[in-house]
Amino acid sequence: MNHILRFDDVQLYYEHVYALKGVSIAVNEGETVALIGANGAGKSSILRAITGLRRVRSGEIHFGGRRIDGTPPDEIVRMGISMVPEGRRVFPFMSVRDNLLMGAFTRSDTAEIHESLDRVLARFPRLKERYSQAAGTLSGGEQQMLVIGRALMARPKLLLLDEPSLGIAPKLVQDIARSIVAINRDEKVSVILVEQNSRMALRVSHRAYVLTTGKVALSGPSEEMRTDERVRRLYLGGEV
Ligand SMILES: Nc1ncnc2c1ncn2[C@@H]1O[C@H](COP(=O)(O)OP(=O)(O)OP(=O)(O)O)[C@@H](O)[C@H]1O
Ligand SMILES: [Mg+2]
Repeated sequence: MNHILRFDDVQLYYEHVYALKGVSIAVNEGETVALIGANGAGKSSILRAITGLRRVRSGEIHFGGRRIDGTPPDEIVRMGISMVPEGRRVFPFMSVRDNLLMGAFTRSDTAEIHESLDRVLARFPRLKERYSQAAGTLSGGEQQMLVIGRALMARPKLLLLDEPSLGIAPKLVQDIARSIVAINRDEKVSVILVEQNSRMALRVSHRAYVLTTGKVALSGPSEEMRTDERVRRLYLGGEV
């Protein structure tokens, strides 16, 4: 299978913190890959390395056959990588509509932008109901849908989601989990899903990597990981 993204032995430091200690991972075309692991394991650092927000110390990152480490963040967005960062930051005083249109800032194809907008609204009917409402008045779960929708407006080939379930009511977590599966299937977009909610992440992904203190500790098909004794003990609270 073709890799859309590949990390070869990537090391990343913050001033005194050795955050990624030689990480090698790959995402195949069309795949959803979960990154799970405890607080501080390096999950968000992997996403920051991909998007160019943080320079890697050594190793290589390839996207669609091109080496991208060292490429500026705006160029990476234009190449087809969109990230939904931790903490779902909407533009609170702007409408749902305008928040979504901000996601298309790299595009100039007006007719197609409106087609993308219709697709996002069809995917998240709650956003359609709140189309003209200020984004800051949405619930946490609705804001999460909005930032995912905004990322899709760039028409990415690779979508990076950092903890979309954090602090969201269980009912909406189910909705978001379902929409991640649907987006991956319908929009021909590969997905990297970072999650503390390992149970959800292993349900919606094809493969998963478990990170511990800056290293890949385990990896494999998500279905196998769900029943792996070590994963169950450490990350799923013992039951599946
Ligand atoms: N800006 C920063 N400056 C210094 N150290 C940082 C910075 N950002 C992250 N770190 C450190 O790097 C390590 C990896 O952090 P990272 O944010 O990648 O973890 P994470 O797996 O995303 O954790 P969480 O689940 O809590 O979000 C941690 O030890 C963290 O304290
Ligand atoms: Mg994080």
